[in-house]
Amino acid sequence: MAIQIGILGLGTVGTGVVRILQQNAEDIQTRTHCDIHIKSILDKDLHKEREVKGDFFLTDQPDQILQDPEIDIIVEVMGGIEPARTFILEALRHGKHVVTANKDLIALHGHELLDAANLAGKDLYFEASVGGGIPIIAALKDSLAANRITDVLGIINGTTNYILTAMAEQGREYSEVLAEAQQLGYAEADPSADVDGLDAARKLAILSSIAFNSRVALKDVFVEGISKITREDLAFAAELGCTIKLLAIAKHQEEGIEVRVHPAILPLSHPLASVKGVYNAIYVVGDAVGETMFYGRGAGSLPTGSAIISDIMRIVRNIQSNSTSSINCTCYLDLPLKAVSD
Ligand code: NDP
Ligand code: HSE
Repeated sequence: MAIQIGILGLGTVGTGVVRILQQNAEDIQTRTHCDIHIKSILDKDLHKEREVKGDFFLTDQPDQILQDPEIDIIVEVMGGIEPARTFILEALRHGKHVVTANKDLIALHGHELLDAANLAGKDLYFEASVGGGIPIIAALKDSLAANRITDVLGIINGTTNYILTAMAEQGREYSEVLAEAQQLGYAEADPSADVDGLDAARKLAILSSIAFNSRVALKDVFVEGISKITREDLAFAAELGCTIKLLAIAKHQEEGIEVRVHPAILPLSHPLASVKGVYNAIYVVGDAVGETMFYGRGAGSLPTGSAIISDIMRIVRNIQSNSTSSINCTCYLDLPLKAVSD
């Protein structure tokens, strides 16, 4: 069996996807019994020097990919709301499965896109949208599905954790470390989304919607970022045997759901205090399983590419078994939201 892929965007994540599909082609073929081939890639600037080469067709015309009848799966790694939303809807309309890393889009329009996927009988997967390479969405959606999840708590933004770690451990300047995180491909196109906590809030809206089988909107998440944290704050926390982390917290209690993102002082003995640099960690509590913890690189080309390709491989298996398994939005619970006091 052969599957043709079209990729929208050849930046940090798109490059990671191409690299892994090329480097690990044999293993991926053995595991799926399928040749996964990149047919076309959309990018704006066709003359830019590329980090990856291959027999793919590079185009700046989206329709040459979205309307190509030979392409089975579209990978959206351009970012932003538009035209990504329109391209995904068009891909689904043209009978393609879709994989995206776009948390902005899923947090704001996930419901509309999943409805469109269900209607088209196609898959829409977004493992890479939260936690980089950590398989947290598959865990919540599948492996922990027998549980009533009560808590999702963690560090889910690699850029801010990278900044806070360097400021705390090396006494480095905020702006200098942010520039480094941008250069390493960790930060969003607009890095204020990272430092202001919005990126973590988007991810928390996605995670809590899946964990609590509810609709948690981005506007429901209380957000405070790290821009007011100084080296002095971190030094003071260290004197107390503590550190400062940007935490994302979602709780499902009797009174309703509470969702918030803000910096928090943690004792150094706390498991999340030892999560450093670009690493993320997500602690999940379920009534049957008890406490679980997921840890790994939360951003970057290859870790995020790894999550994208896991979704592609899931879709290939669904194609082989003639099924789909995207989240179905028609079965959400309508849970009340608990106010967060700051
Ligand atoms: P980049 O900015 O590195 O790459 C995006 C690429 O898409 C660029 O080459 C850009 O071209 C191209 N592009 C953007 N808009 C268009 C368009 N309309 N038509 C054609 N090409 C377009 O971003 P990332 O790879 O870092 O991120 C991609 C997505 O993955 C985002 O949604 C991001 O939030 C998400 N993500 C990123 C992670 C990371 O670690 N970087 C981790 C997890 C998710 P140009 O540069 O010319 O604008
Ligand atoms: N900018 C994001 C981060 C990328 O730093 O976590 C991964 O989603």
